[in-house]
Amino acid sequence: MLRCVIIGYGFLGKRLAKLLAAGAVEGVKLVGVASSKGYIYEESGLTLVDLPDELQSSRALKPSPAIELIDRGLTDLLVELTPTNIRDGEPGLSHIKLALEHGIDVVTANKGPIALAYDELMELAEETGSMLLHEATVGGGIPLISLKNRCLAADELLSIKGILNGTTNYILSRMHFEEMTLELALREAQMLGIAERDPTLDLEGIDTALKLVILANSLMNAGKKLSDVKIKGITGITSEAIAAAKESGMTIKLIGTADENGLRVAPKLVRLNDPICVHGTLNAVSFNFKILRRLTIIGEGAGESTISALLNDIYEVVKARARSSRT
Ligand code: HSE
Repeated sequence: MLRCVIIGYGFLGKRLAKLLAAGAVEGVKLVGVASSKGYIYEESGLTLVDLPDELQSSRALKPSPAIELIDRGLTDLLVELTPTNIRDGEPGLSHIKLALEHGIDVVTANKGPIALAYDELMELAEETGSMLLHEATVGGGIPLISLKNRCLAADELLSIKGILNGTTNYILSRMHFEEMTLELALREAQMLGIAERDPTLDLEGIDTALKLVILANSLMNAGKKLSDVKIKGITGITSEAIAAAKESGMTIKLIGTADENGLRVAPKLVRLNDPICVHGTLNAVSFNFKILRRLTIIGEGAGESTISALLNDIYEVVKARARSSRT
């Protein structure tokens, strides 16, 4: 049984903890959950009744830093779900580094550490023989990373183009179809729980840029940083601009592109019949492979669907560790 600890007890952390405590992945025992308030830990495994809505309301709460769970060797698998911090990746970056240094496998949805320190973290994982899986950082439940690494590993990915942010896509869709204002549509997106805690990260295109860096580095070996991305968000998009696009059978979408000219994020005119022209909270990514050519994948890029990616990465770790214990 792999002893699993979840750090970050927000939208994703709470839902994932409940699923793991209910036995969603065979071979995994949830022993700890942590937030900035402290942690609860039970060596024999946490059950559903041990998991409160708010961690601070648990009588079992130990008001100590989450990092203790890693440092004291109380886990074999860390699921890192603290909020994305684009300045220095903390506290997630330190949690992930420490876990990998101890040979502990890591699954994460935290974009900060993966976008800021991908190469360094992967080297560390390689050195210590640990796994670092991050499917949930990009495209929510859409298996973008597994798709390339499993089904298309022998082909070469030449470029990526897509809608990688559900919040801005929801806003632009509401502006296009309902003639709603950007401000009102943003409020709706916030109510759906898909916007970042600081929604300027969505609106200014930074969330899309982070995801583009992650995809370019992990699928194209691009070695890019956030500062390499030319970024323009959607705050300047007016109702008039959307109406004009609509008249000519087009709309405006926030598009992230990674190709031989570098990485960029900007609002673009897109034909309504283009395969990447999806609406609402959907994401769509068009890969261009050397042999396969164009492959477009569409799905929910935020919220609940992200749990599917986390569960699958956890399952991958269990499978790999079961294999290595047999050899
Ligand atoms: N704010 C992000 C989005 C969440 O709207 O896509 C998922 O990364």
